[in-house]
Amino acid sequence: MKAIVLCAGKGTRLRPLTYSTPKHLIPVGNREILSYVLMQIADAGIRDVGIIISPDSGGRIRECLGDGEQWGLSISYIVQEVPGGLAHAVKVSREFLGDSDFLMFLGDNLIEGGVAPLLAGFAASRPHGLVLLRAVADPRRFGVAELDAQGRVVRLVEKPREPKSNLALVGAYVFTRDVHDAIDNIGPSWRGELEITDAIQKLLDMGKIVVSHELKGWWLDTGTKDDILEANRVLLGSSATDQRVAVAGLAACQTGVAADVSVESCEIVDPVSIARGCVLRDCCIGPNVSLGVGVTVEGASVTNSILMEGTQVTGPVVVEDSIVGSRSRIVAHGRSGPVKLFLDNDSSVELG
Ligand code: DAU
Repeated sequence: MKAIVLCAGKGTRLRPLTYSTPKHLIPVGNREILSYVLMQIADAGIRDVGIIISPDSGGRIRECLGDGEQWGLSISYIVQEVPGGLAHAVKVSREFLGDSDFLMFLGDNLIEGGVAPLLAGFAASRPHGLVLLRAVADPRRFGVAELDAQGRVVRLVEKPREPKSNLALVGAYVFTRDVHDAIDNIGPSWRGELEITDAIQKLLDMGKIVVSHELKGWWLDTGTKDDILEANRVLLGSSATDQRVAVAGLAACQTGVAADVSVESCEIVDPVSIARGCVLRDCCIGPNVSLGVGVTVEGASVTNSILMEGTQVTGPVVVEDSIVGSRSRIVAHGRSGPVKLFLDNDSSVELG
């Protein structure tokens, strides 16, 4: 069993931050989203992993992950020249995959409980495809599956206007080599992409067996600012209660306050993740706040936010529901209402 992790794509919904930070490297709970995905793959016992990268953001991802040794993985990088769709990403991975069975994991998806249960389900009956489904409130944002009375997958539609069920396709799939034949027999969708949803539908049309597994735990698809803040909240919250049980396969969210943090006259409301080298004075931090390495907060309150490495917040301001890139400066000269920020690295904001 090999794995591919899809990290190409443009991350347009997360601009401006994605101008300098690929979305897969945005930290939640002070760890890059992608590192949780890799931990889950390692936990499931897979070693050979192909990371699909785009020409523009691929360099940063390579720099951050290296050869994968820190997770006990052997990582290969596969460049997808254009974001031609999820099935296109499989196509460009053909040489890496050979005829292996493989796990396909979207690098921006976080799944409670990891992928080991999915792989166990696949090993038990070895179908041609296995999809992970989750009931959601608004299925129109996702690929959607229709099941028959016996729970078998009968039809899949990508982002339907009128969904026939509330079961969304989660971004983790398992395939045998048969999916390559299916991909060779589909064309681009209305959005101009080779869709994995269409490839799975093609597998069904070819008489192959596709089974589903329903995820009962949480699923975070980190496509927007609110999604990232929710992921931060969920990961910090689960770790604080019972890391091993609640975040099985995601064991390493870094909660709490690092040993060398300098704290003076501060209120800290759990859950938080405060990395080494932070300096906190006359401030209130939390709940649901992640501060990266060397963040300074003086005289301010920060709640439900991610402040990345080296950022400074000074003066009487309440920063809430915010994501602020590395090395940014927020200075409040007088009291103002709460601010909600979404800033790229090296930004500067002066208030009042
Ligand atoms: O998150 C689950 C959903 O992911 C599924 O329900 C949908 O059926 C599936 O099509 C996909 O939909 P999205 O529109 O959310 O996919 P997105 O474009 O956000 O890409 C998902 C990941 O795959 C992301 O990490 C970027 C990467 N990617 C995307 C494309 C289009 C690639 O590596 N190459 C690509 O060509």
